[in-house]
Amino acid sequence: MQLFVDTADISEIRKLAELGIVDGVTTNPSLVAKTGKKFRQVVDEILAVVDGPISTEVISVKAEEMVKEGKELAAIHPNIVVKVPMIAEGLKACRILSEEGVQVNMTLVFAANQALLCAKAGAAYVSPFIGRLDDIHHTGMEVIEDIVAIFDNYDFDTECLVASIRNPLHVQEAAVLGAHVATCPPSVLWQMVKHPLTDLGLERFLKDWESVPR
Ligand code: G3P
Repeated sequence: MQLFVDTADISEIRKLAELGIVDGVTTNPSLVAKTGKKFRQVVDEILAVVDGPISTEVISVKAEEMVKEGKELAAIHPNIVVKVPMIAEGLKACRILSEEGVQVNMTLVFAANQALLCAKAGAAYVSPFIGRLDDIHHTGMEVIEDIVAIFDNYDFDTECLVASIRNPLHVQEAAVLGAHVATCPPSVLWQMVKHPLTDLGLERFLKDWESVPR
């Protein structure tokens, strides 16, 4: 499973990249707004730290404008993946961009049927938002299970990129189901590193080592 970081905060990305576990980054307009920096500066900083797919989102809602915006984003660097919202205009844009060799990540996906349509339109990734589904009493992980099965049944190349992750269990369950990518907030990746028994075990090893004659 590939692990992406779901943030536009470069210091968080840098710290996690040092662990050697970051395959890519996803951003969205809300995450970029939080940085208080200019969009291009944010993108350039991320590109300098992570050599992998970096999702940046279009803000147009008309296919023609999405395509124009998507091409401009893709021209920044070959690692740029263009995030497009899962609306009818987005599907049209996805088909055009994909045929021109631009990698598209269809975002704001909440149902397996939406994911199927994204795959048909040539998306490189679909981003189902599981946390937001859980928030409204729908089991987000059931959507992941269905998407993985559908993509597998028909050998789609589209990858299921699990988004809106809220906790480490989300990542583990998505991995068990065979989802291709999980994009995680930095806090979740740090939670995944930790286990209380690891800390206790290390403390005991170091203490016992003190009694070893040198
Ligand atoms: O990047 C899209 C997605 O991961 C957003 O997550 O926490 O705002 O639902 P969240």
